[in-house]
Amino acid sequence: MSHVSHAPVTTPDGEPAIPAPTAYEQVEGWFSDYDQAIFDWFLTHQEESGAEPGDLLELGAFMGKSAIFLGKYLREGEEFTVCDLFDSPAPDESNLAETKDSYPTLTRRGFEVNYLAFHERLPTVIQAPTFVVADRVRPASCRFVHIDASHLYEHVVQDIASSKAVAAPGAVIAFDDYRSEHCPGVAAAVWAAVANEGLRLICVSGAKLYATWDDPEPYRKGLLDWLQGRPDLWHGIDDVAGQQLVRIGDHGAVAPEPPKPLRPAPEPEPQPVAPPKPAPKPRPGAAWRKLAKDLLPPVVTRAIVTARRRRRERR
Ligand SMILES: C[S@@+](CC[C@H](N)C(=O)[O-])C[C@H]1O[C@@H](n2cnc3c(N)ncnc32)[C@H](O)[C@@H]1O
Repeated sequence: MSHVSHAPVTTPDGEPAIPAPTAYEQVEGWFSDYDQAIFDWFLTHQEESGAEPGDLLELGAFMGKSAIFLGKYLREGEEFTVCDLFDSPAPDESNLAETKDSYPTLTRRGFEVNYLAFHERLPTVIQAPTFVVADRVRPASCRFVHIDASHLYEHVVQDIASSKAVAAPGAVIAFDDYRSEHCPGVAAAVWAAVANEGLRLICVSGAKLYATWDDPEPYRKGLLDWLQGRPDLWHGIDDVAGQQLVRIGDHGAVAPEPPKPLRPAPEPEPQPVAPPKPAPKPRPGAAWRKLAKDLLPPVVTRAIVTARRRRRERR
């Protein structure tokens, strides 16, 4: 971590200040360097390949780590929407248990303070369970959807259906935690959508699966070209469920340039410089003793020292 200080932020209504991060590394979350590199590739590729403008959507924002990153790629005229419960109650008991244990300190204000430390404007925030998204986000409007909210099977099934409704042609859908032992429901829902719903695979990292509801080939080709020049990411190709899947592994992945804070950390206060200590005064006779030691033969020096000691003892 390069910076550790936080600039204080006060709200206009006088609520207690929440410290704002002054560097991206300070934002809490689970968004690895490795997936940052892959997000960057997809979003830059969309820009460079002249993809139509399209909105960005994140289900599950927590304290904003991945949202702040996604916000960097928002282009003129596009909308970025995040949906999270934040500090609202979860819609069912299992979801309540999941969120209470995993995100006990999460608040919407915490997210907003973090996001505004890096961007001038907040995204559109939907503070609600993700099942409202299909009604609140325009159909076929999004070019990139990050699904990282509830990791319970029923919720992910619903989020997958919403992603299909809001996906613009060629949209990328990124699923978090598609293979972790602590959330098998995500794997079950994602692979069921691949087998039965027409979800098309692009690639996987250790933590995320990237797919589309359209032809994955244009992405796959560009991705493989890019990976050739990335020794920090190993890759291979497997056939899975009749589709080609690019596997991407971490060889010390280098993250892209992190989002820049709008207000960098203040320079540290200059510390007062202590005046130099005066040199110690030489003891009386010290210069004479040094000269004698350097010039006289040791036998004479010893005799003088012994005579001086005896004189001191007699006093
Ligand atoms: C793993 S965190 C998101 C992490 C974030 N994307 C990042 O990379 O830092 C999951 C988030 O989903 C939210 N969440 C859980 N269940 C939800 C639901 N049913 N509807 C909306 N949000 C939910 C939680 O409040 C939490 O903030």
